[in-house]
Amino acid sequence: MAVERTLIIIKPGAVARGLVGEVLSRLEKKGLKIVGLKMLKMSRRKAEELYSVHKGKHFYEELINYITSAPVVVGVVEGDDAIQVVRKVIGPTNPKEAPPGTIRGDFGISITQNVIHASDSKESAEREIKIFFEEGELCSYSRADEAWL
Ligand code: CMP
Repeated sequence: MAVERTLIIIKPGAVARGLVGEVLSRLEKKGLKIVGLKMLKMSRRKAEELYSVHKGKHFYEELINYITSAPVVVGVVEGDDAIQVVRKVIGPTNPKEAPPGTIRGDFGISITQNVIHASDSKESAEREIKIFFEEGELCSYSRADEAWL
């Protein structure tokens, strides 16, 4: 068992559409544990840090403008192989390619408005979590259903 933590960001369009509960519920029902959660309007500085690997790409400006346009919900999700499991629950980056049953497949509008971001590797998860959370803001607790997961 490899317990991992990963960063999720519920994007501005999904917050505005009232999808926060639905998205968190899908992750919780999968057996993943939310160990950190907050709503914030992302600063340009944090957005540029988060998406630094995309600097220079043709979609970079649109991405930064979108993610800073209105409040987002950022969270840290914990579980066995959480990085890979969360990405499976979310589906491929482009909602047009995401199968029904995945979060992006069911709710995604476009590659920019793709509902949710999640870290793509252990290294990214460690780096991205630190952008939004202090270690003391993350909680350790047991889920009541843990024995059944
Ligand atoms: P996300 O998981 O937040 O990580 C980077 C984001 O860049 C991605 O979701 C998309 O919203 C966006 N993105 C990736 N590729 C493209 C592309 N070809 N055109 C526009 N946006 C993209």
